[in-house]
Amino acid sequence: MLSELQIADFRAALLEWFDRHQRDLPWRQTTDPYAIWVSEIMLQQTRVTAVIPYYERFLNRFPTHSALAAAPEADVLAHWAGLGYYYRARNLQSAAKQMQSDGGFPTSYEAIRALPGVGEYTAAAVASIAFQLPHASVDGNVLRVLSRVCEDDTDIGSGSGRRHFGNLAEAMLDRSRPGVFNQAMMELGATICLPTNPQCLVCPVSAGCRARIAGRQNDLPVNRKPAKTVRINRTVFWIEQHDRVLLWQRPASSRLMPGFWELPERLQLPAALPGRKMGAFRHAITFHDYRFEVAEAFLPNEPFPKEPFRNELGTCQWVPLAELERLPASTILKKARRVVMKHLTKEESKRAVAVAGIARNT
Ligand code: ADE
Repeated sequence: MLSELQIADFRAALLEWFDRHQRDLPWRQTTDPYAIWVSEIMLQQTRVTAVIPYYERFLNRFPTHSALAAAPEADVLAHWAGLGYYYRARNLQSAAKQMQSDGGFPTSYEAIRALPGVGEYTAAAVASIAFQLPHASVDGNVLRVLSRVCEDDTDIGSGSGRRHFGNLAEAMLDRSRPGVFNQAMMELGATICLPTNPQCLVCPVSAGCRARIAGRQNDLPVNRKPAKTVRINRTVFWIEQHDRVLLWQRPASSRLMPGFWELPERLQLPAALPGRKMGAFRHAITFHDYRFEVAEAFLPNEPFPKEPFRNELGTCQWVPLAELERLPASTILKKARRVVMKHLTKEESKRAVAVAGIARNT
């Protein structure tokens, strides 16, 4: 733990640096709690650069909690498409409806924390940034900064370790500018105090950083439970007939991307017969590294029903290729489609070369 004097020096150096060097991010131009909350929900599992265009589009379309509460769910999801973790969009809308009936945006830490989709970190961020309430927000960036500045070997992967750093963060928090302080801590972690190759030479708090003084900045934080990447192989089926492709739609009750369209897999179509492989692509989501193979497939029981068929897994339906662009398509479907197009273009040119060869030889 640092002394009071060291903490005061740390705050002063950090805030002076942040005032001068902070990135110009759209949610830093507003004091509207609703907009700040939307930005924090978007930033929960997504990088700043990816969030910016979504944030701007979302706020243009849903500028207030009332607008969000009144919108059709499909519209909210369409504005979230590509950001991933779709339960966040659904939580946003149910929270907006709650605000509508409660008479506005909640103004205390406890009431913000009680909103669906808001954990301790987000509640502290919104309460401090929008209402200047003295709550420290502690994410992975902040854990790294704290463990290094204090040269603290406590395991950030354990519950007790996180509570320990939570207390430390509360002690370090500048209670006269809690929102700015929290953002400055996140900013330092995101741009200077990097997981590997921390930029100590340009760090505003390096003079008082105990890990840096001891040359241990690369050994901290200690995490005894590092996240392991899980590799998963999956196959999606491309089943095409008369310029239509067979898609399945996730049910509205799905936790993951409700209402979005996907290519079917074995789970939806147990009887499908896989044919040629058309290609493959990777898709990474946090700790899951998927490899999707796209296989041409056929249905043994011709003719396949023209009507949509439903089961508990959702709806399967023939969709005209020309209409694909207009559906809310998952990223997997979009990537698979690119693989199919590339495959077909290659096949096409092979055929053209073969035809040209035949023509030359005849
Ligand atoms: N990550 C989470 N909240 C953030 C914020 N307000 N600014 C930048 N990065 C963040």
